[in-house]
Amino acid sequence: MKILLVAAARPNFMKIAPLIRAIQRRNDAFPANLIQSLLVHTGQHYDYEMSQVFFEDLDLPEPDIHLGVGSGSHAEQTGKVMIGFESVLLKEKPDLVIVVGDVNSTLAAALAAVKLHIPLAHVEAGVRTGDLGMPEEVNRLLTDHISDYLFTTSKYDDDNLIKEGIPESRIHRVGNIMADCLMMCRGSAQKSDVLKRLNLTPKNFALLTLHRPSNVDDKQKLELIMSRVAKVAQKIPIVFPAHPRTQKNLDFLAASADVGAYLQVRPQGQQSLSNLLIIPPLGYRDMLNLEMNALFVITDSGGIQVETTVLGIPCLTVMDYPVWQITHKEGTNVLVGSDCANLEREAGQVKTAWKGKRPALWDGKTAERIVDILTKNRY
Ligand code: UD1
Repeated sequence: MKILLVAAARPNFMKIAPLIRAIQRRNDAFPANLIQSLLVHTGQHYDYEMSQVFFEDLDLPEPDIHLGVGSGSHAEQTGKVMIGFESVLLKEKPDLVIVVGDVNSTLAAALAAVKLHIPLAHVEAGVRTGDLGMPEEVNRLLTDHISDYLFTTSKYDDDNLIKEGIPESRIHRVGNIMADCLMMCRGSAQKSDVLKRLNLTPKNFALLTLHRPSNVDDKQKLELIMSRVAKVAQKIPIVFPAHPRTQKNLDFLAASADVGAYLQVRPQGQQSLSNLLIIPPLGYRDMLNLEMNALFVITDSGGIQVETTVLGIPCLTVMDYPVWQITHKEGTNVLVGSDCANLEREAGQVKTAWKGKRPALWDGKTAERIVDILTKNRY
């Protein structure tokens, strides 16, 4: 059996790593029925901090094939991946393509595969916000409807797919693969020296990430969010590893008279310590270490909402609609609005141990379940 695994952007690598490990384990156990897997990197993310550092942190093999598509408009990025991936498919003739998550490359690779009648599996199927204004929502919806295997994380995802008329025979609830990766790397993340490097002490800081186009591309919106973050930063230091998309706009904002003030927030009398520390993006181990040690996390990242739920760290989500309903129902996740209207209030209510439990099947065995299902159907 020959499988092509597609990775493209930062949030994909931690979903691919457990699959590669599970395939290796399966091959060790059943050498007579070897699975040949090839890793295809589309190159949607290409900076060291957005791509290579994850190969190092997650001990991922170098990609077998690199499409090098880089940045571009949505149509350019999607089109380039489709064209590049189609020639890979024609050459490699795989029995199955696995795509993960919801980035532009996920949809592009899925479309190229399905048009060549190659069976397609989508890991993290059924996730919905109902907001078609988010490119990720469009990517998720379309990928799900053309996939043969839909691997879901919870009953909420199953319900979404069933409501959309997808046959139940295609839906397989396997749990959350991000939990696999977290559990795989927890030990090495604990050894990261990031707290020392940033001069932070455990539970004495909050962590912020923002990258959704709807939150960071519009200057006025970002200013509003940052002004509300700045109010929280008066009470507790906030460390903000900024995505390149956000960084570009922060540079622009810093130059504007209105925003300088937000970036200067610091306790009275302390000249050198900024309470809002903006730094470049971090690797997986460092990021996980910060998540574990933060008093709470403010984010618009889907992946971080999952990680904080598994870790039991309070998560204040900068969105209007939940992406992962289960993290709100069972985990530690609270919506503060995409304009952060409720941020100050929620941040003021955070206790170190919010009640929340790890959802069923978010147990580190999701990749194994996926490989079992794929191979059972095959042999
Ligand atoms: C993409 C995904 C999003 C995911 C996010 C995680 C889509 C539609 N969006 O958003 O779902 O949560 O990745 O990071 O696929 N850039 C760099 N260096 C890089 C990568 C990007 O500087 O290594 C810059 C590019 O110039 C580009 C911008 O960041 O203009 C945005 O990159 P892009 O891949 O278009 O989308 P993201 O915002 O990263």
